[in-house]
Amino acid sequence: MTLYRQKNLPGRIRPSRFDRLLRPIHSWVWDDPRRRARKLLRFAATEADGGRDLSRAAELTSDGLLRQLYLRHASDERRHAELFRKRGRALIRSLPRATETSFEANWFAPGERGLDELRVDGENEDSLLAFLHLSEKAAAGRFALYQEVLTADPETQGVFDTILRDEVFHMTYTHQQLARVAPRKWTAVLWKARLGRLWKAYLRIAAAVAGLLGTMILLLQYALLLPLFALLAKRYARREPQGWSPARSSTPLRSQY
Ligand SMILES: [Fe+2]
Ligand SMILES: [Fe+2]
Repeated sequence: MTLYRQKNLPGRIRPSRFDRLLRPIHSWVWDDPRRRARKLLRFAATEADGGRDLSRAAELTSDGLLRQLYLRHASDERRHAELFRKRGRALIRSLPRATETSFEANWFAPGERGLDELRVDGENEDSLLAFLHLSEKAAAGRFALYQEVLTADPETQGVFDTILRDEVFHMTYTHQQLARVAPRKWTAVLWKARLGRLWKAYLRIAAAVAGLLGTMILLLQYALLLPLFALLAKRYARREPQGWSPARSSTPLRSQY
């Protein structure tokens, strides 16, 4: 049984065109040390989750080679979680205490699994490998870009450099194993996974746009209708006599009991 070696891996990983387009935003996201620390700690949580999912995948598979690869992958992700956590905590310790800024740019700088959730239980071997391959590939490209924009922080850059080597291995073995377990249909499986990711991205964008529109409509309602009601209430208040007036009904009030 052979595990793929690092020397078989492709050389330089390049960020996707889309991520390159967003490079100024990525630079801005990573520029602030407080935001950088929080992002690293969030990445640590994502990597640890990924490690648990892969341990579960190793438990479920009946394929010996895949089990071994998933276990190694799980241990890599746990190590990445530790590296991110350590660096994130070191950054926080080095910062002066200040008021927290609430904005988190997770849409612009997602972690390894991006914004997708991995569901191991009930997943076919080939679709799981396709999902893993695409998310590892996206992560490798993204981490390469984060590494590029982190020139002002060589220590964090070094963390990404170390992790990136493993991500390239993960991206490569998942593709090779997909071609092994589904030799005739791996391209179709990969396209299906790609379309699934696109669909999920569309749903996320649609939900975000719907949320934004909902907030804007509510604000417009407050801005336009509240002053109108306030004006009407004032007019009625002027017309009505002040204070309590006696009930006009001639029927005496009866007790309910
Ligand atoms: Fe990782
Ligand atoms: Fe990975």
